[in-house]
Amino acid sequence: VQDPGTSLGPEVLLTLHRGGGRTLHAQVEDGLRAAIQSGALPGGLALPSTRTLAADLGVSRRLVLEAYEQLVAEGYLYTIPRGRTVVRGIEVTAMSERPAKRTSSILYDLYPGLPDLSYFPRTEWHRATTKVLREAPDSALGYPDGAGAIALRTALAAYLRRVRGVVASPDRIVICSGFRQALALVIGVLQRDTVTPTIGLEDPGLYEGVPIVEAAGGHCHPLPIDDLGVKTDALAQASLDAVLVMPAHQFPTGVSLAPQRRAALASWATENRLVIEDDYDAEFRYDRAALGALQGLAPDHIAYAGTVSKTLAPAVRLGWIVLPERLVDPVVNAKRLHDSGTATLSQLAFAEMLNRGDYDRHLRKARRHYRRRRDALIHHIERTQPDARLSGIEAGLHLVMSLPPDIDPAALTAIAASKRLGITTIDQYQHEPRSDSPAIVLGYANLPAEAAGRAARLLATAIAACRRH
Ligand SMILES: Cc1ncc(COP(=O)(O)O)c(C=O)c1O
Repeated sequence: VQDPGTSLGPEVLLTLHRGGGRTLHAQVEDGLRAAIQSGALPGGLALPSTRTLAADLGVSRRLVLEAYEQLVAEGYLYTIPRGRTVVRGIEVTAMSERPAKRTSSILYDLYPGLPDLSYFPRTEWHRATTKVLREAPDSALGYPDGAGAIALRTALAAYLRRVRGVVASPDRIVICSGFRQALALVIGVLQRDTVTPTIGLEDPGLYEGVPIVEAAGGHCHPLPIDDLGVKTDALAQASLDAVLVMPAHQFPTGVSLAPQRRAALASWATENRLVIEDDYDAEFRYDRAALGALQGLAPDHIAYAGTVSKTLAPAVRLGWIVLPERLVDPVVNAKRLHDSGTATLSQLAFAEMLNRGDYDRHLRKARRHYRRRRDALIHHIERTQPDARLSGIEAGLHLVMSLPPDIDPAALTAIAASKRLGITTIDQYQHEPRSDSPAIVLGYANLPAEAAGRAARLLATAIAACRRH
């Protein structure tokens, strides 16, 4: 291996144990090989010069040179002119965080959960981040305010008051890494009063809602849902410390909480309990004006939470919670202890988008975009399956289609996948999967209107094939 001896190259983390059984030579060679195999050192990366790495590790240059030579011989590294040593691209086994349902074999993607990621407002986000990088003072680069950047809390309070009717002020808002973190922090705080707080969760409801609540130290109690939303008479039958609800557009059923139930829930909360309102996709309502947030009915007893995971993209990891006053300090403390605050630069970029009106403009455009996709899917399902029963169509990014009782949801999903059509059954979101009212949840955010006819025909054939079995 040639060596220019001067290049600094990237940092490479290798931990050497001196005085152990293995030679330093073997440790350097094995460490580099393992880092390439795991993808920590990716294909195309030029390694530091032997002199630099030897100095970093406190070993002789000859030892590093021999390790590089060995890995060149094995095909993990190659050399390029001017003496640089480069990692060869190898196939890395990726670690995925959750079972990936979206596979490349799926052509017609009706999985719920993700917005159209190609619709992310890159230009506006780029403009906002550039401005923030240019203008933010150095002091903004220290540890974040545990409650969130004041610029974002101020912009959000105004937005939430204006668009969602939330009773919000900057000092009641905590910015979190998505809704899920907000939920976990609040449940953690409830443990101050009750060792294992019992939380009522809509059933079916948030994907992984039960494990999130349990991991945060809560105990889950399922709450049934009917056409009017969560059944509030079930509240009296259980001794609950808090309930988590989605009044504007319940996931996955798509039901909006009826006015009498909204009132009942708010009045239940005022008897010293807490309602956590998950307002994850209320901005997308197509056929009439959005319902105001429930929180406005009892702001001292309802914690209102929102997220950009549907309106922008989940990768941004920005969410917020507007809290009753008594919970603000404990939640901010929990947030500080948990991760020292949410990334400031992203918060400031989002505040900039809110203040410029870019977020409002994006939402207006996105509403039209998704409405077109929704209308196309409904039109084609109604044409191909005139008896289909669709619900939850007024809002959000998904709808529900009831299935005849003789259809096995698992078999239907498998047949659909074999036709390259991705669908999900409602039992994925139930606390205990049940077969009493089988249904599928169809997300239309990622299905272009032009593909809706083909997708609806494939769905109809899959259902027909399933019935014959
Ligand atoms: C019901 C519901 N609530 C909240 C969220 C958002 O969670 P987060 O902000 O942690 O991405 C989602 C998104 O997947 C959701 O489906």
